[in-house]
Amino acid sequence: MTRKRVGVLISGRGSNLQALINACKKRDYPAEIVTVISNVQQAQGLLRAEAALIPTLTINHKDFPSRETFDAALNAALKEAGVELLCNAGFMRLHTPGFVESWRDRHLNIHPSLLPAFRGLHTHERVIAAGCRISGCTVHFVRAEMDEGPIVAQAAVTVLAADTAETLALRVLDTEHRLYPHALALVASGAVSVQGERVVDTNDQAQVPLFSPPVP
Ligand code: GRF
Repeated sequence: MTRKRVGVLISGRGSNLQALINACKKRDYPAEIVTVISNVQQAQGLLRAEAALIPTLTINHKDFPSRETFDAALNAALKEAGVELLCNAGFMRLHTPGFVESWRDRHLNIHPSLLPAFRGLHTHERVIAAGCRISGCTVHFVRAEMDEGPIVAQAAVTVLAADTAETLALRVLDTEHRLYPHALALVASGAVSVQGERVVDTNDQAQVPLFSPPVP
């Protein structure tokens, strides 16, 4: 089995990165992380990568005069590392359309809601304020619009009456840690592909099977 060479972009804590690192340790996992790049020098995720002996790099967006030049530096580093698939894991910068286009259908993001609902920040506060009974998380291919793009996998999480944004965030995060490795495996193995902005089973073009973690 040849593993797909994955680059992970982070800005902070890196708990999703950790979930991907753990998944890549499995012998039959179809991907390996070859570089972790942060735009924030103090990102905790960098320490997680170092502990796993994965090469890391900080490319600080503040060192660049424009989003285009920052993205060009990012692209050069990814190319240098031989990255085939890119995963955003809590990366807090919007990419330029040119960057997005160059990684089209090879670039994943995880978002803590059931997209297309609740794009953007402060997701859990807004889910609770809206009185939603179900929330969850989504792994999708990246497009130029924030938190938009073909959906690879989703998982639902029950919103409890007593939930605060913090308690809901914790349960969704726990689910993210199972969903992201599942979705990356689907993409890295070639089991799924994008057809007309929908993700389908590569072989029979049927609906991708639902990921169903235990509902708390
Ligand atoms: C996660 O909730 C992810 O869905 C969102 O940002 C958060 C990152 O957390 N995009 P971590 O850095 O992976 O711990």
